[in-house]
Amino acid sequence: MTIQDYRDFMAEVLIEPDRLQTRVKELGAEISRDYQGHDLLLICILRGGVMFLTDLMRAITIPHAVDFMAVASYGAGARDSQGQVRITLDLTTSIEGRDVLLVEDIIDSGHTIASVLDFLSTRRPRTLRVCALLDKAERRLAVVPVHYRGFTIPDKFVFGYGLDLDEYYRNLPFIGVVQPDKVLPTS
Ligand code: IMP
Ligand code: MG
Repeated sequence: MTIQDYRDFMAEVLIEPDRLQTRVKELGAEISRDYQGHDLLLICILRGGVMFLTDLMRAITIPHAVDFMAVASYGAGARDSQGQVRITLDLTTSIEGRDVLLVEDIIDSGHTIASVLDFLSTRRPRTLRVCALLDKAERRLAVVPVHYRGFTIPDKFVFGYGLDLDEYYRNLPFIGVVQPDKVLPTS
């Protein structure tokens, strides 16, 4: 397998590093104000949310804890999750009575986050909210509340800053758009 350089298939940089960092700092400030005096627990959905999570944690100025979970879509690949989501890695801490904020890289159809919200709400958190870096709002199929949103983006396949193409390119410090006519770069 040959892994291409991202420049071979990138159409454009959609969000530059500076804009990402500025927006993440704003979200961190907003979250710090809203959760002042509360038992804030950030839950990151692996793996796309990790880069956003670690920058967001640095931007949050109040004490908080973190935990991780992972989900997989049944059937079709990540580009068309069809609403069937399975928990592949569960939390290690109890969320009962706590103020839980889900940290996600991107909301597309909304099926993933809708399933995770259903699942977590059965464990009786005090509050349960969603913080998404990217929102492909026009693709939404499931109704999901997005309390904190980094950017609303068009219906294009994106990568970088935690988001992958076949598991690669998560390390890039910007959000890039794949050229529409390109097949996946690692095939
Ligand atoms: P949803 O269930 O349709 O909302 O899909 C959400 C998941 O699909 C995200 O957590 C991502 O893992 C993946 N995803 C959706 N759009 C993109 C994209 O443009 N680039 C990379 N991953 C994406
Ligand atoms: Mg993914």
